[in-house]
Amino acid sequence: MVTTDTPISLSVATLEESYDIIAPKIPEIVDRMYTRLFELAPRVAQIFAGRDPSKQLRTVHVLRDSFDDLSALTPELEALGARHATWGVQQQDYAIMGPILLEAMAASVDPYWRSEYTTAWAALFQTVEDIMLRGAARAQTPATAG
Ligand code: HEM
Repeated sequence: MVTTDTPISLSVATLEESYDIIAPKIPEIVDRMYTRLFELAPRVAQIFAGRDPSKQLRTVHVLRDSFDDLSALTPELEALGARHATWGVQQQDYAIMGPILLEAMAASVDPYWRSEYTTAWAALFQTVEDIMLRGAARAQTPATAG
């Protein structure tokens, strides 16, 4: 069994403050993200064909209640990562999506966005990505004895 052994340390106060600003803008953030994704990475954008991108940013709401203890969400995030792998989402796609998400957030609340929000959300995204990719890798690796 793999669990998160070390506490996940994030800038909780900064995330909470910025969350309050971006929460009402989530529909606009989703629009901006997918417009940009289609421009920058059509191959990745194609993975969304016929799907509902807005589902994705609901994660932000779920994470909101766990900024101070993300480890509680670890099993769910691992399973989410495994589902993403089945849709063809690869490790490098997260690297494309992260900056696009941060830019969309910043642009949606301009001029209230601060550089420390970018730092805090980038760390959060990286943490979530790591957990999701671990779940994806585990789901693809046949269980071995011992
Ligand atoms: C930290 C990164 C990410 C998070 C937290 C996240 C979160 C989610 C969530 C919560 C869903 C809803 C579906 C479910 O719960 O099973 C979803 C769906 C989806 N995500 Fe992500 N995602 C991330 C990264 C990515 C990346 C990099 C891609 C690249 C293409 C992607 C593509 C998709 C697609 C195609 C769906 C399917 C939507 C549907 O079923 O209609 N996601 N994501």
